[in-house]
Amino acid sequence: MEQKAYHIPVLYKEVLDYLVTNRSGTYLDCTLGGGGHAEGILRRLSSDGRLIAIDQDDRALAVARERLSPFGERVTIFKNNFENLDVVLYGAGCDALDGILLDIGVSSGQLDEGDRGFSYKEDVPLDMRMDMENPQTAADIVNHYKEEDLTRILFDYGEEAHARKIARYIVSGRQEKKIETTTDLVTLIKKACPGKTRKHPARKTFQALRIEVNRELEVLEKALRKGLAFLKPGGRLAVISFHSLEDRIVKNCFKEFATGCTCPPELPVCVCGKKPTARILTKKPLLPSEEELSENYRAHSAKLRVVEKL
Ligand SMILES: C[S@@+](CC[C@H](N)C(=O)[O-])C[C@H]1O[C@@H](n2cnc3c(N)ncnc32)[C@H](O)[C@@H]1O
Repeated sequence: MEQKAYHIPVLYKEVLDYLVTNRSGTYLDCTLGGGGHAEGILRRLSSDGRLIAIDQDDRALAVARERLSPFGERVTIFKNNFENLDVVLYGAGCDALDGILLDIGVSSGQLDEGDRGFSYKEDVPLDMRMDMENPQTAADIVNHYKEEDLTRILFDYGEEAHARKIARYIVSGRQEKKIETTTDLVTLIKKACPGKTRKHPARKTFQALRIEVNRELEVLEKALRKGLAFLKPGGRLAVISFHSLEDRIVKNCFKEFATGCTCPPELPVCVCGKKPTARILTKKPLLPSEEELSENYRAHSAKLRVVEKL
């Protein structure tokens, strides 16, 4: 029987076409996952091209290490959070890159591993950590955060219209019984939001908790800024995001990189001295084709944006 792929890389050809401009270059994959994009990058490079890769998930790292073993010393893999990409690169003896890829969020492998707690469809401990060494799980958050903090997270990170109500049900529910599993949480959410909905009522709460557990938005912005600093002129930074909160951060950061003087227009001369540091290559984000979507439904909300360092 054919084995199910750990993860199908999204916008695969688009990423490689935009990213790999120097076949002898050095590239950084910040989100190695199952190693699909990484393998594609290595195949496009010549024998003197090199890839450095990061992931924070031990299981993903094991899958990717095995997959990329034929490339030998041309690939170096690190367990870390990509917010520390500078530390990783110095450790790898690298101070300039030709391209960086961030394909953020969780992989299909992580969603399908029932025990991780990322999916509201499984009845498992409420965990959601990508890095199992991270001390805080989603269960810790729902059992200990104050009601107003839960409301804020659900509203800001889940764009959940019923944030206040769900937070109230979580807080009163946990007084009766500790919330330990995905099902415990889904039950409370269904009590807070009874009635039929087109999409699963727990979808936005799970997204919000995942973002909080893994500090996803905070580390993304840090990595974009650090990453740009390591690119050679002409080097490219490509980011695939999966929801509007991430895409907004990428879009705004790229806009800021591409903007020069920010002085008020009434000033006769520039006093801020700000110069653009990058050029936006994708005025509108690239989306998966109909063909890709028909083969991989998880590509649905993917958006690719790319900048080139000046
Ligand atoms: C969508 S998958 C990447 C899939 C990969 N491009 C492939 O072709 O298989 C995202 C991966 O990034 C990792 N990840 C997400 N945020 C991370 C972070 N802040 N630091 C390191 N790894 C991270 C996840 O653990 C996951 O394995």
